[in-house]
Amino acid sequence: MKLIAGNWKMFKGPRETRDFCEAFAPPEGVEAVLCPPFVSLPAALESGHTIFAQNVHWADDGAYTGEISAPMLAELGVAGAIVGHSERRQFFGETDETVARRAVAALGHELRVIACVGESLEERESGQMELVLRAQVEAIRDAVGDHEGLVLAYEPVWAIGTGQTATPGQARQAHSIIKELVDVPVLYGGSVKPENAEELLTQEGVDGALVGGASLDVESFTALCRTAANL
Ligand code: PGA
Repeated sequence: MKLIAGNWKMFKGPRETRDFCEAFAPPEGVEAVLCPPFVSLPAALESGHTIFAQNVHWADDGAYTGEISAPMLAELGVAGAIVGHSERRQFFGETDETVARRAVAALGHELRVIACVGESLEERESGQMELVLRAQVEAIRDAVGDHEGLVLAYEPVWAIGTGQTATPGQARQAHSIIKELVDVPVLYGGSVKPENAEELLTQEGVDGALVGGASLDVESFTALCRTAANL
């Protein structure tokens, strides 16, 4: 069964979250996950859908202003968390080491984890895609192994929010590099929409999708889930 996760980023407060969740009815045959902002988690959880947070701290508690811990998320009923999204790496100083620590904490509290990896355009164009991917994946794998709660997401940075998707061949190649290193499901992310979902999701090694923009609209996210369920 494919996993389709909607990463809402910094969109939708509690009211919009409630409206979306009420209207959202994923079909059978797909695992649908919604990842709202922290303040909207309680509203999303009321719906009974599977809910992940967008980040999680590595400590259980402490003097870490602005952070949220794994036991706090678990207490709320959240099922998992994204870690290492490229926007966190780019804008908030996240490193392979902090990403791995966050993954360890989440899995240690029985939360599932979607850990994101992916090269920038500059890295791809200078021939370093494989090197970068390996380093990012190994940092996570060395910290948590082939944990059953772990999912990786291949998200080439140049494809995120740009409308530019990796070709099916590029996705297949990157997923095969990742799968040689770690035996867990791997999602593709980066401008996935109802129109390109099928060709990406049918590639070998693509076990689902992490969707940003197209997950904000209930119709398009439902269409994506339907495509995945019918494969
Ligand atoms: P996008 O975002 O689908 O809007 O490109 C994907 C992501 O950042 O997870």
